[in-house]
Amino acid sequence: MRPRFVPKNSTVLRENFGDASPLISSRPTLEKLRIASAGCTACPLWKSGTQTVFGEGSKNARVIFIGEQPGNDEDLAGKPFVGPAGKLLDKALEEAGIDRDEVYVTNVVKHFKWEPKGKRRIHKKPNAREIAACRPWLNAELDLLKPEVVVCLGATAAQALFGKDFRVSVRRGQFIGSPLAKRVTATVHPSSILRAPDDETRREEMKRFVGDLKKVAKVINHRNSRPMWISVDSTAIRKLRYDPKRKLLDIDFNSGKIYRYPNVKVREYRKLLTADSAGTYINKIFKPQHPAFETIED
Ligand code: URA
Repeated sequence: MRPRFVPKNSTVLRENFGDASPLISSRPTLEKLRIASAGCTACPLWKSGTQTVFGEGSKNARVIFIGEQPGNDEDLAGKPFVGPAGKLLDKALEEAGIDRDEVYVTNVVKHFKWEPKGKRRIHKKPNAREIAACRPWLNAELDLLKPEVVVCLGATAAQALFGKDFRVSVRRGQFIGSPLAKRVTATVHPSSILRAPDDETRREEMKRFVGDLKKVAKVINHRNSRPMWISVDSTAIRKLRYDPKRKLLDIDFNSGKIYRYPNVKVREYRKLLTADSAGTYINKIFKPQHPAFETIED
C-alpha cells in the first residue's frame, strides 16, 4: 500500500470542508505552509490523493508557473510537475532560456483527483468548490514569493485566476493586467501538447508553447543582461528597501515609480549591495545608514 501522509482515520485531523485558510499561519514561510498543507482536509480530495503536493522551487523565484492539479506521478512523488507534463515543461523552459532556478511551480489544487480506469488512475478535472477550498494555499504562495511573473498553465489555472470566461485559446501569451504580479500571463497546459493527435501537431504546439515562454524569458532576462548603475546619492531616489531574506531591493523613486530588483546579494552588508546571479551589479554604495535605506527585519 502506498504511504498516506494524512492518515485516513486520523483523530487529530478533523474534516474541514470549508477552505484551507484556518491552516495558514499568521507568519507563514514556504516550509511552514508545506507542512501545514500536508494535513489539509478542506475538500474531499484529501481522501483520494496519496498526499498533498505543495508547490516547489526557489524561494527567490521570479516566475511562478501554476498548473491545475498534480497528476498520478506527482501524487506518488509528492512533487509537482515531475511526470510527463513536467518533463515537457522542463524542456520548453530550457528552449525558452528560462533557468529552472528562477522558477517555482505549483497547482491551483494540491491533491490528485482521479477516477479508476482498469488498473489506472485517470485524471479528473477539479470542480469550482475544490478549487476554492485550495485557493488560500496558492494565495499564500503568491504573497510570500512575490513573483515578477505569474504564468497560468491551461484553462483551469487561468480561469481560477481570471474568471470562468477567460479563454486561453484567445489570450495565450498576452500579459494581462492583474494585482497578482507585475506580469501575468496564461498559456496552454503542457499535457495538451502531449495529447496532440500526431507528431507534426505536437511539434507545432511545442513551438507555440516555447514562443509563449520566450516572452516570459524576455521579461526576466531583461535586467540580467546589462549592468545597472544606480547612485544612492541621486536625488531621484526617495527610499531603498531591502529584504535580506528574499534578497529583494525596492527602489522608490521620487517620480513615484518603484523598481524591484530581485536576487540582490549583500556582499559586504555595511558597504555594498551586489546584484544578481547573472553578474549584474548595482555598483554603487548603498549604505544602510543612508536616510533612504530601510531594511525589513523578520
Ligand atoms: N499537471 C499539472 O497541472 N500539475 C502537475 O503538477 C502535473 C501535471
